Amino acid sequence: MKFFLDTGNLDEIKRIVKLGLVDGITTNPSLIAKEGRVFKDVIQEITAIVSGPVSAEVVALDAEGMLKEAHEIAQWAPNVVIKVPMTEAGLEATYRLSQEGIKTNVTLIFSVAQGLMAAKAGASFISPFVGRLDDIGVDGMQLVRDLRDVLDLYGMKTEIIAASIRNLEHVEAAALAGAHIATIPGSLFPSLWKHPLTDIGIERFLKDWEKVPKQG
Ligand code: G3P
Repeated sequence: MKFFLDTGNLDEIKRIVKLGLVDGITTNPSLIAKEGRVFKDVIQEITAIVSGPVSAEVVALDAEGMLKEAHEIAQWAPNVVIKVPMTEAGLEATYRLSQEGIKTNVTLIFSVAQGLMAAKAGASFISPFVGRLDDIGVDGMQLVRDLRDVLDLYGMKTEIIAASIRNLEHVEAAALAGAHIATIPGSLFPSLWKHPLTDIGIERFLKDWEKVPKQG
């Protein structure tokens, strides 16, 4: 399973990259806005640190506008992936970009039908939003399971990015559900390697170590 970091924050990225846990990055307009910096600068700095796919999202709502932005963004770095929203225009842009060999990540997926349409249009990645489905009382992880079943059933190469991940349980469930990738907020990452019993265990070992006779 691959892990992407869902952030535009360079410090968060550098911290987790050091641990060998980052296979790629996803951003969106909200995450970029949080940084208060120029979009292109943020993406180029990220792509200089991370060699895996780095998603950068278009904001146009029409296909021609999306393609215009996509062509510019695609020049920023070889590992950039164009993120497009799941709309009719987004599907057209996805299809045309896939014909040109430009990778896309279709975002804001909330149903199996949407995921299937995006995969069929040629998306490299699809991003079901697990947390936002949970927010409205729908089991977001079931969508990930169903999407994986459908993609496997038809031998489709599109990869599922479990997105809108909010907690440790989401990450574990995404792994079990067969998400190819989970994109995880930087702030959530430390909770993946922490456990209170680990901390207590270390404390006990160190206490006992004090009882061990020292040489000389
Ligand atoms: O990966 C998508 C993410 O950035 C949206 O997360 O928590 O705003 O639903 P959230």
